[in-house]
Amino acid sequence: MTATESIDFLQAPPELDRRLDDMIVPEWWNGTPAIAGDRYEIDARGGADLDPEGPLAERMRQVYDQVGLVHVRNTGLVALADMRALARHCLPEEMHYEGGSNPRQELDVNVFEVGAPLSAHLHYHHEMAYVSKSTRALAFLCKEALPDRGATYFSDGLASTDHILSTDLGRKLRDLGVCYHRSLTDREAFANRLEVGVYNHWQLSMGTDDPDEAEAFARERGLLTEWGPERMLKTRYYCDAFEYDPITDRNLFYCSIADHGMWFDGWPLVMHLPHGERPLHMTFGDDSEFSRDELQQMVTLYDRFGIKVDWRQGDVAVFDNLRFAHGRPGIALGPGEARQLGVMLGPKYDRVGQRPGKF
Ligand SMILES: [Fe+2]
Repeated sequence: MTATESIDFLQAPPELDRRLDDMIVPEWWNGTPAIAGDRYEIDARGGADLDPEGPLAERMRQVYDQVGLVHVRNTGLVALADMRALARHCLPEEMHYEGGSNPRQELDVNVFEVGAPLSAHLHYHHEMAYVSKSTRALAFLCKEALPDRGATYFSDGLASTDHILSTDLGRKLRDLGVCYHRSLTDREAFANRLEVGVYNHWQLSMGTDDPDEAEAFARERGLLTEWGPERMLKTRYYCDAFEYDPITDRNLFYCSIADHGMWFDGWPLVMHLPHGERPLHMTFGDDSEFSRDELQQMVTLYDRFGIKVDWRQGDVAVFDNLRFAHGRPGIALGPGEARQLGVMLGPKYDRVGQRPGKF
């Protein structure tokens, strides 16, 4: 059990466990995949070849290059280390997870847990869009699967970019950009207290117990910093809502509702707080709030171009973090059930934002 999952089992006072009446819940897809499965699925039945120069590796790279997503099924693999070796056919470079907003435990060498409670729905998002050093690609490795649920959804970023740019909201995001607000709590302040309103402590996010070092680390990553009550480290990061992609030579939409306070709508011990007081929040770049209608538009946008990926043990999916957003519904486990994905982070890159003339 992870630190975040353990929260589910604590008895929280009822006022800390209420759901918001006006919560916006994604529909994930419209029932028809935005991209047909035969374009990104590879059946490895008969044995997953871990040789990086073998035919399976070559096929994976070809599919990944064409689509930006490859899902290898029926691998017969059970060990995360082997699944990682398979994913490395497309992701030879990995990054060490640092500076992220959520706490991730390492499940195996360079394979991390998802870092979110299973019970919470995870809005579509691009990983680490909220910091200046982001990741180009990720892989999910299926350690344990459920027979009838637990799918991950991917949303086609090229289609969502085209669509949002045809709307007033898209043009507003292009012109104003966004600001990512993070409130990182102090581990010491919660040493003997129920972790109400906690997502991550700055000590874990920044990898140090020294407040000066934590602040310096955040500033190196382009964040504005400020200390709040109880040594809460509050950071702001102003950036474009689009990111130039040298592969497709165009600006892609790289912003999602997952970095808004809405991310916590289903999180125990956090969801009772108003959006602006939650550990993560997003505003437009002029510090103005998103309206409810604008939030709904963002959710509907990603749903419209969704793809459903069902998991079986041993499955490996590698995807381009710019060309796809990912998310999933909340999952309730029955007795004896388990669902676990390991996460690998691909090469780190410095965000450059949107480029003129590339829309
Ligand atoms: Fe994610």
